[in-house]
Amino acid sequence: MKNIAVFASGTGSNARKLIEYFKQSPLGRVSLVVSNKANAGVLDIAREHGVETALITRAGFYENDDFLQVLREKKIDFIVLAGFLWLVPAWLVKAYRGRIVNIHPALLPKYGGKGMYGIHVHEAVVAAGERESGITIHQVNEHYDEGDTIFQARCPVLPGDTAADLAKRVLTLEHRHFPEVVEQALATL
Ligand code: GAR
Repeated sequence: MKNIAVFASGTGSNARKLIEYFKQSPLGRVSLVVSNKANAGVLDIAREHGVETALITRAGFYENDDFLQVLREKKIDFIVLAGFLWLVPAWLVKAYRGRIVNIHPALLPKYGGKGMYGIHVHEAVVAAGERESGITIHQVNEHYDEGDTIFQARCPVLPGDTAADLAKRVLTLEHRHFPEVVEQALATL
């Protein structure tokens, strides 16, 4: 049974799906939720499910690798970024290379990189007149949205869609696929 840490900065709807899914999985469980925001909704979701939480600060995360000790104490095997908006520092990539994945709400390599998160992604996709969008689940390296792709799923961008309409459709796709893709990744560890 592998221990998963979910890193998230916001609402945490994907974190919720992951926590719930892994309550039933023989391969892993979400045993830690990490956030950089004290008032992030994801922390309430974790508490509601009895999952331990940890808060990181910018200084603590980027100036030293002390947080590795927390991950080791909790015996974390695998890290899932689910709406986590900070760049993952080199020490963490190095310690967990091949064992950190991220979900991105577009078809990378398009609409990725710094500043491309959440609704900004969908605004850019709609503004460009794309006919389809989707999700990308990928390995995490030292650069935003650049690690190897593990999985993509597509959905249409419909005529008249607002960024909010598209965000909803893409989020549904995330909820449907993310836990299973993480479980498949755990199976290969
Ligand atoms: C998700 O759509 C995720 O793909 C996106 O943030 C949202 C978080 O929603 N991540 C990024 O944009 C990363 N570049 P949630 O908090 O409800 O899971």
